[in-house]
Amino acid sequence: MTIDSVDYSTLMPNNVGLADDQKLLRALERWYPKYLEWWVDMGPSGFIHETPFQEADVWLRTAVSVEQDGWAKFDFVKMPEYRWGILLAPQEEGRTIPFGEHKGEPAWQEVPGAYRAMLRRLIVIQGDTEPASVEQQRFLGRTAPSFYDMRNLFQVNVEEGRHLWAMVYLLQRYFGKDGREEAEELLRRRSGDEDRPRMLGAFNEETPDWLSFFLFTYFTDRDGKMQLEALAQSGFDPLSRTCRFMLAEEAHHMFVGATGVGRIVKATAEAMRDAGIDDPYDTERIRSLGVIDLPLIQRKLNLHFSLTLDLFGAEESTNAANAFNSGLKGRYHETVIDDDHQLLDSTYPVTKYVDGEFRHVDVPALNALNARLRDDYVDDCAGGVKRWNRYITETGVEFELTLPHVAFHRQIGEFNGLAVTPEGGVIDEATWESRRGDYLPTEGDRVFIEELMQQVTTPGEFASWIAPPQKGIGGQPVEFEYVQIPNT
Ligand SMILES: [Fe+2]
Ligand SMILES: [Fe+2]
Repeated sequence: MTIDSVDYSTLMPNNVGLADDQKLLRALERWYPKYLEWWVDMGPSGFIHETPFQEADVWLRTAVSVEQDGWAKFDFVKMPEYRWGILLAPQEEGRTIPFGEHKGEPAWQEVPGAYRAMLRRLIVIQGDTEPASVEQQRFLGRTAPSFYDMRNLFQVNVEEGRHLWAMVYLLQRYFGKDGREEAEELLRRRSGDEDRPRMLGAFNEETPDWLSFFLFTYFTDRDGKMQLEALAQSGFDPLSRTCRFMLAEEAHHMFVGATGVGRIVKATAEAMRDAGIDDPYDTERIRSLGVIDLPLIQRKLNLHFSLTLDLFGAEESTNAANAFNSGLKGRYHETVIDDDHQLLDSTYPVTKYVDGEFRHVDVPALNALNARLRDDYVDDCAGGVKRWNRYITETGVEFELTLPHVAFHRQIGEFNGLAVTPEGGVIDEATWESRRGDYLPTEGDRVFIEELMQQVTTPGEFASWIAPPQKGIGGQPVEFEYVQIPNT
């Protein structure tokens, strides 16, 4: 067996030699039924004729190697029988810690004692987001616009489940008793629960419909990508290798979001063109075509973007500085940045609201790591929005989707408590509240979407509000029956 091949002899497919570590194997095997219980309880749920989704055969990809090419194979799988594996990117010979005060020292293969608590917390916070998104998305199958989309939803869900496994492996392998306790807690918290909520705000919000789902996978999974990129730099090598492999899966989640929003925008713009409607604000007529008006898409975008920005935390943060200094969490693309990678005397321009205007203020770079990661994130978001707008201009409709200002609708950091329009104007709170319905989705929007989104279960057919994809997935055509529902 080469180091990169996956061992399927244990309950959990893995490339970390579980078969040779009986104690760890047993700990994970004890956790497995609890995980399955959580999955059946909180995973994809409900279907026509009350058939649980869990019995459907779904055309899913499963990781079979960690090589760059051909790491996954596609097959029909019932979700509870999905082989959630523990997969790390191959170990890099002679890897050193790329940043912080230990820069240049050999990467740690065991937990550095001085940073144990900080490291555990980073892993738990990352781990907590994975099951949270499955919980948030659990009812979406009921309103899936096609089998193609339903399958993509379930693919994202099982992979978020695998990401939980990835973090739980690190906790159980490297943190002993308290790691095992954290692994249990990860199954006990619930998205949106009053008593035991998930750890981060955006992961306690609802993902009530498919437009939200696509915006979530575009914007919030992209926050996940940025966090994983930063942790992939870690001096703690097992964390770095884990995150590097997770990033391969994450790319698909963002693809689902980017193409999903794009297909919705396309359906709307084309329907407007065909009906001869020029005014994007002619809401009633547009909605009567069975598509989602562009201003509503913009309001939803405003919501998901602003909620996601809060995930980056306060712009200036000593926790982030400590995690960097100690070599645990780096910057986006750390190794290709041209500086000392220790940030001893450098500064970073943080956007702040000073004397009635937004300005860049230089602060010590070490304290501004959250701001920097968020700025990198905002840049990374731009590409998809540009593609979505191309669908609109192609039809001759005049409307442009935009990212709202970073200070809009924020609850954490510099701009918390500031009443800012999506364009970046600072106004008084009463005026902002009176215009809330222009900025963010309204109750009327919610009712409209709820009535609009009905499940479509004819292979190859798509709901009126979303255009078909350009091609199918996993070697199959668009009209393939990606989810096979058992007859009842
Ligand atoms: Fe994930
Ligand atoms: Fe994801």
